[in-house]
Amino acid sequence: MSRPDPHSFADLDQGRVSALDLDLAVDFATSRILGKATLHLAAPAGGPLDLDTRDLDVAAVRAADGSDLVFELGDPDPVLGTPLRVDLPAGAESFTVEYATSPEASALQWLEPAQTAGGEHPYLFSQCQAIHARSVIPCQDSPLARFTFDARITVPEALTVVMAAAPGEAGAGAAPGTRTFSFAMPQAIPPYLFALAVGNLVSQDLGPRSRVYTEPEMLEKSAWEFADVDKMLLAAEEIFGPYLWDRFDFLVMPPSFPYGGMENPRLTFLTPTLLAGDRSLVNVLAHELAHSWTGNLVTNATMDDFWLNEGFTVWAERRILEKLEGLEAKSLAAAIGRNGLMSAIESFGADSPFTRLQTDSAGSDPDEFYSLVPYEKGFLFVALLEETVGREKFDLFVKKYIETFSFKSITTAQFEEFLNAELPGVPAGIDAEGWIRGEGLPANSPAFTSARLESLEGQAKTWSDGARPDVAAAKEWTPEDWLIFLQALPQTLSPEDCAWLDGEFALTGQGNSEILCSWLSMALNSGYEPVYDRVRSFLGQVGRMKYLKPLYQALYGQEKSRALAKEIFEANKDSYHPIARGGIERILGG
Ligand code: BES
Ligand code: ZN
Repeated sequence: MSRPDPHSFADLDQGRVSALDLDLAVDFATSRILGKATLHLAAPAGGPLDLDTRDLDVAAVRAADGSDLVFELGDPDPVLGTPLRVDLPAGAESFTVEYATSPEASALQWLEPAQTAGGEHPYLFSQCQAIHARSVIPCQDSPLARFTFDARITVPEALTVVMAAAPGEAGAGAAPGTRTFSFAMPQAIPPYLFALAVGNLVSQDLGPRSRVYTEPEMLEKSAWEFADVDKMLLAAEEIFGPYLWDRFDFLVMPPSFPYGGMENPRLTFLTPTLLAGDRSLVNVLAHELAHSWTGNLVTNATMDDFWLNEGFTVWAERRILEKLEGLEAKSLAAAIGRNGLMSAIESFGADSPFTRLQTDSAGSDPDEFYSLVPYEKGFLFVALLEETVGREKFDLFVKKYIETFSFKSITTAQFEEFLNAELPGVPAGIDAEGWIRGEGLPANSPAFTSARLESLEGQAKTWSDGARPDVAAAKEWTPEDWLIFLQALPQTLSPEDCAWLDGEFALTGQGNSEILCSWLSMALNSGYEPVYDRVRSFLGQVGRMKYLKPLYQALYGQEKSRALAKEIFEANKDSYHPIARGGIERILGG
């Protein structure tokens, strides 16, 4: 037996599922998806085949001729879910699972009409990364087990289905009052990139290959914010080579979407908190686009290699930013990232295994493991490689890396082998081993500086001496400037200082969610009560974990706001995505 991924029950020696045929109906009345999944094997197999499931109700498993197959659901594991063992007859090429998802499916969020922008129709969306695909489809839920799929999804006729796949025909469903939408995903994806959303959705073209989908109420704002998507796509192709996924569409989600963005192929999902009205947060779109190469073409083999996905993608995102907005913008972004990394390392402890690039997360829940380390330490490592060999040579290396491993899922060791072969001597020269398997941030990490950055940090550093930034000048600062400044300030201030900042710059009324969250966390850490109402309303509006976690942590961290943390959570927990709810429960439980 070989289970190559500690987060999956799949044993790839038993057989490989290489294609899926889905025929599913979405039932809003019971919060279930029900129907059939036919799993096709890469080569005929026989005997036991283990699949991943989580909270699935399996009604039957059938052979290709329709006969019943013996199956067994094992003991549920709190992290991995429940293994489904199917007994295949010799020479089986496919089989069908008849099943229903649970209302508690960890990937799915079922929204009441009141939780949507329009307020009239329900909404459903999935978030499968890291290991939640198994709560929607029975599958070998490891990035090592890629599959193509066809899907037919039936929904109430007023609603539209979108998937991370190529849309096909839509027509009347078998049951009255329903419609069936068809999709095909001809490129093999890892299961975590399986995605669907159902709601009152409309779209607008933004370029020859891109279109934005969202609810009608958010269409105009969304189309304006991301109007430059085509420029990003062209810039990205120059750096990484041709875009192989045909279209790059995206969906602006309801506010409870737990992430900033998710790189679902052909249909990136984005949080509406990016709609700042000034295009200042579009880097998240660049990031998800960059995953089209680093992540979706070259995929991490397991969650222990997650830095290959995210470190390369943050590096790629910042190369796109540099191309579109210049070096200064990139340096500021890198500096903001480095601040985040330093606080993550500080909170884990500089010798913590959580600060390694390659991790050993067997037995742990990847959602609990999630941190900035693979992103920002990964970015610095890739940037160091680039700095060491020079841009020209490194760009050729990156293109070859992507070509070599396209549509493959690779381990950190495979990456290192390729690196050694292509850039001999370089890994040893920069101590790649220490970067990848060591803790903390190595001393040879590249520095990103800019005159602007130094000036802003300088102004923040003299705060404790009583110096204050020039009010007129600070009112002209860009959102990045503000983030740098707020992050560089002492994170606990006196009530007078909080009142001064808020009085002069109206931070509590900020429309930019990044600045708002930085300010509110700092104000809460300072015990500054006038922000409590805004914190309460913000935590009731958004479900993005990047904001929920620091704010709940700050509330819970202060004795006097601890009860408030629990009260706000109780009032809002039912409107958070299951993944976000779990994350906050861990904060409040401790
Ligand atoms: N793939 C991630 C989101 C993710 C990671 C979901 C792990 C579940 C498990 C996505 O590409 C991402 O990194 N999003 C970031 C934005 C980015 C600019 C750093 C986010 O959501 O904040
Ligand atoms: Zn990412």
